Amino acid sequence: MPDKKKEKVSDFRYDTGEARVPWAAVGEHVREDDILALIKFLLRPARGEQKHYDARLNKVAAELRNLGAVSTPAGKLSLAGNVQALEEATARFLGAKHTVFLTNATAGFEIAFKYAGLKPGDEVIAPAITFIATIAYPLALGAKVVLSDVDPRSLNMDPKDVARKITPRTKAIIPVHLGGYPVDMAPIMKLARQHDITVIEDAAHAFGASYRGKMIGTIGHFGSFSFHEVKNITSLGEGGILASTTAFGRELRRARFLGLDLTRQIPNWLYDVPAFEGKDGCFFTGNYSTTEIQALGLLSQMKRLPRIIAKRKKAAQYLDKRFARVDGLLTPPGDDARIKSTYHLYLLQIDPDKVGGDIQTLKKKLDARGIVQIPHFAPLYKFSVMKQLGYDTAAIEKTCPVAEEAFQHRFTHLPLYDFTKEQLTYLADAVIESVGEMKRGT
Ligand SMILES: Cc1ncc(COP(=O)(O)O)c(C=O)c1O
Repeated sequence: MPDKKKEKVSDFRYDTGEARVPWAAVGEHVREDDILALIKFLLRPARGEQKHYDARLNKVAAELRNLGAVSTPAGKLSLAGNVQALEEATARFLGAKHTVFLTNATAGFEIAFKYAGLKPGDEVIAPAITFIATIAYPLALGAKVVLSDVDPRSLNMDPKDVARKITPRTKAIIPVHLGGYPVDMAPIMKLARQHDITVIEDAAHAFGASYRGKMIGTIGHFGSFSFHEVKNITSLGEGGILASTTAFGRELRRARFLGLDLTRQIPNWLYDVPAFEGKDGCFFTGNYSTTEIQALGLLSQMKRLPRIIAKRKKAAQYLDKRFARVDGLLTPPGDDARIKSTYHLYLLQIDPDKVGGDIQTLKKKLDARGIVQIPHFAPLYKFSVMKQLGYDTAAIEKTCPVAEEAFQHRFTHLPLYDFTKEQLTYLADAVIESVGEMKRGT
């Protein structure tokens, strides 16, 4: 649990209390019209319901005005009680000592890489298949990104290949729990201990997953979760939680907001700005502050998380059952006694020899049937940025044969939520029919 006495979520600037001439925490308060604009954006008319919607919205607008007459506007919109409540709730949920609510998961990686003392020329090992956010900071810094090959079934980082790719310059490993399915963390942590490497879990998809009794995101030195709108739950569009098992965890809140330390002052000023003690010297951070409204959104959705994951799991199990009967369709790994996934995505693989064609054909057939797939997770060496920054991408590709083969020939991601029963059946039928056509050569 966070130490409430020492840590203060609120930034100092507008905490002026009961002064004769206070400086309001909020320049212009949120008024009824602002809330109405939000309601209109967040809850839009359903198809064919415009007339009913307008009528009901008029009633809400009238009630909001009445509410305005008997209410006081929120005193603080950024970094206050709801952000603190969210951090306490996420720390409890994860069994973590320290968590901080940030703008996004990418910001969390940045803080963690800075703590690790990453410098230009140092090496970071990341899996070949992930989103570019995983390696954005090392690329921007001029560190060297080394891509590990992946496990053929889960497409997560292959610890054996990581072991082969460690050098004396390796400063960090960033395993990615792709689609919410946990990476095999035990061998990664063993390697980290042997070589004194910082492990930063990319847990963007994995809030609520666990591995051998520990929550994902609390096994490495850092774990960064995403609450961007496409994730299982969202802080109303954007957001991230960073957890840390290091002593630096105590400094996470200060690291979120430009290092301001309100418990220490320089002469004649309200605060000091000390640098942070990293693993390898001092470092400094940026501003990744979040709003009370984002925190409220996530606190509210967190309450539904167990139900959401259960519903996703049920959908995945239905697809597994249907696909298991089809020769050439390979189902993804699921929960067992030691591993719990968040079922963020459904990773579908085919055996091209048995199906008589590869995944590119299946993807086209699914597109034609109106099935949206996630085209997000290509091997990173495919992206221009790596070549432009001087990486020999053809050579990297040769060191990641499983990722290359899977990408070109074998895998796609299917969505798992929020379907009607008909949509789920249609999805399974569409895959099975498309594979049938491929086998027949039609
Ligand atoms: C694997 C992976 N890592 C990191 C991120 C970045 O998360 P955020 O958008 O919160 O920075 C994403 C977002 O989609 C992701 O899919």
